[in-house]
Amino acid sequence: MKLHYGRVFQDRLDSVHGLPRARLAELERRFGDIHAEVRRRREGGEYGFYQLGEQPVAVQQIRRFAEGVGQAFDHVLVLGIGGSALGMKALLNALKRPGWNELDDEGREFFPKLTVLDNVDPTSVAEVLRRMDPRRALVNVISKSGGTAETMAQYLVVRQWLEQALGPKATGHLVFTTDPAKGALREIAQKDGIAALEVPPAVGGRFSVLSPVGLLPAALVGIDIEGLLAGARRALAKAENAELLKNPAALYAGLHWAADTALGARVHVLMPYTDRLREFAEWYRQLWAESLGKARDRRGQDVNLGPTPVGAVGPTDQHSQVQLFMEGPHDKVITFLAVDRFNEDVTIPAGAGLPADLAYLGGKSMAGLLQAEYQATAAALSRMGRMNCSLHLEQLDAPALGEAIMFFQLATGYAGVWYGVDPFDQPGVELGKKLTYAAMGRPGYTAEPLGLPPGDVA
Ligand code: PA5
Repeated sequence: MKLHYGRVFQDRLDSVHGLPRARLAELERRFGDIHAEVRRRREGGEYGFYQLGEQPVAVQQIRRFAEGVGQAFDHVLVLGIGGSALGMKALLNALKRPGWNELDDEGREFFPKLTVLDNVDPTSVAEVLRRMDPRRALVNVISKSGGTAETMAQYLVVRQWLEQALGPKATGHLVFTTDPAKGALREIAQKDGIAALEVPPAVGGRFSVLSPVGLLPAALVGIDIEGLLAGARRALAKAENAELLKNPAALYAGLHWAADTALGARVHVLMPYTDRLREFAEWYRQLWAESLGKARDRRGQDVNLGPTPVGAVGPTDQHSQVQLFMEGPHDKVITFLAVDRFNEDVTIPAGAGLPADLAYLGGKSMAGLLQAEYQATAAALSRMGRMNCSLHLEQLDAPALGEAIMFFQLATGYAGVWYGVDPFDQPGVELGKKLTYAAMGRPGYTAEPLGLPPGDVA
């Protein structure tokens, strides 16, 4: 994977907007301290996701489970939310054929179908359970804490559904992915003899896709998990470099921080040019938002900072959000995520008799059209003085995706230091959780009126 970052600088834009080139030298100078802080914090036990490049024991357990028990089922149902679902959805979207669940057994190479429930919308839950045969289903309940209300509510519903159909055999249709020692899920696994994999305690939810959280479902549907980790190791190796210009994740983070804090570019857009990375953009949004949006900095000062991540997909969003990117406020940095070589291409028919206005398309390939649109959009944005950069994947396979995932996790870890915040906590979601518990009558939580304020209704 290569990061092309020239178009964040004034001299590659319209000479007015963008970072002055001299800013790069300043970032390079500061990087010694940034890199040292990351090292120090790693040694102190933070940044646990660095350990995910090498996990032979977990990989062996996952393989054994996926190739043994896992293959006895036609359908895998994953229950999880946030970091326990988004990364896995990105893996499936990028590395399995589109419409996976609609393919027949041969089309899926006899791997199971996979459905993810990451919400408690009763309509989706009821529909999934109506369509699925519990006798053929393996349910992977994923929750690091083992107590998240949404996932636990799903679990209780799904366990009842399994038990009604299978009686005591229901437990053989469940596998948990959770903390090795703590939480309700671990307790249930021990009591009922349910298979359970471990989420490494030092790896935070949104940094956990390359742990058993994402790797078990991935292996169950035949994704090359060793390939994912090999790619992750490539990104990790580059992130050891103490020279900023040779450490792309740190550079990406530093440039985005500089654009935000010096130029007010607070909106960070990730725009893959392939449908297969749509869910990757969703995963990135959570990673960037939950890690960097903070009330207080590391020293406890009130800062209320954090860039707003936005997902887009090219060329689709050229007909939607790009008008705003092109002419709206100068408050964005756009990252294109481009795939150089598509696994498959489609030729647009040339045929005589095409109207003159369409003749230029005849005989061209769709991948060629898509690449032209990406390059044209990037060039047009640059001419309009809009900061952008590009990440190029040679092709979209497991190693490339593993590298891209680890790249963004590393960039998030570095961005935490550039911004001066803790990228691994999420205190801002706690109040909402407490109020929900209270509203649902959980003991120890005092109920408060949650209804809309009176009046002011139109
Ligand atoms: O990144 C995070 O920590 C969160 O998004 C969690 O992944 C999410 O809240 C789900 O938590 P858990 O896996 O404990 O159910």
